Amino acid sequence: MERIAFRMLFLYYFLLLHGANSVEEDIKLSLIKFLEKLSPSNGIIMDPNFGWNMSSDPCAGHWKGVTCEARSISVKKIVLDNFSLNGTLDDESLCSVQSIILLSLNNNNISGEIPREIADCKELTHFYVSGNRFVGSVPALLFSNLKRLDISNNYFLGELPALPAISSLVSFRAKYNQLNGAIHTRIQLP
Ligand SMILES: *[C@@H]1O[C@H](CO)[C@@H](O)[C@H](O)[C@H]1NC(C)=O
Ligand SMILES: *[C@@H]1O[C@H](CO)[C@@H](O)[C@H](O)[C@H]1NC(C)=O
Ligand SMILES: *[C@@H]1O[C@H](CO)[C@@H](O)[C@H](O)[C@H]1NC(C)=O
Ligand SMILES: *[C@@H]1O[C@H](CO)[C@@H](O)[C@H](O)[C@H]1NC(C)=O
Repeated sequence: MERIAFRMLFLYYFLLLHGANSVEEDIKLSLIKFLEKLSPSNGIIMDPNFGWNMSSDPCAGHWKGVTCEARSISVKKIVLDNFSLNGTLDDESLCSVQSIILLSLNNNNISGEIPREIADCKELTHFYVSGNRFVGSVPALLFSNLKRLDISNNYFLGELPALPAISSLVSFRAKYNQLNGAIHTRIQLP
């Protein structure tokens, strides 16, 4: 009887430890997939100086553009400005890393749309994508969570969505697009 209980305990700890490790591996995989989609052909993912690989840790290693919160060892910010990234934005991989609060991809060549599922990134409050080749409309859901948003110098089209009455937005830049319509809001924009 005692032996069985001991084995159960062992199994329990094994699962606990194994589970904790695989979460970390999942996050690394998601981030690497995110970068692969951003940069399908220009080789950044293979560049050891860029450092985004499975054999190093995003926080303990030196993944270019990644900032972590030291205490919780979670990825908080991704800043990849000015790298000529010419792929697309993989919201699913990004949002599976729920701890991200800031994404900055200014001055690249990223194309495609910003999927409305970007709102699944629950912690994301700072989103900067100026100077890319984004098309389509600006997802209204972006305005529910974000504090700072910069979509200037892209090819966004159409009407701006009505801002929700309760919005946390403090800064919004959208110059040089093909947007029209008014900003319908009850809040004061700077
Ligand atoms: C992205 O840039 C690379 C060179 O850095 C080029 O070979 C490739 O064709 C470009 N892809 C697109 C979709 O423009
Ligand atoms: C993986 O990234 C680390 C830095 O994060 C770097 O030192 C190492 O050379 C990279 N390894 C490969 C195989 O690219
Ligand atoms: C990207 O380039 C712009 C213009 O050259 C510069 O102002 C900005 O500081 C650069 N950003 C980063 C993160 O290097
Ligand atoms: C974007 O791609 C075009 C060619 O498709 C190139 O002329 C331009 O320099 C690229 N811009 C950046 C910021 O990489």
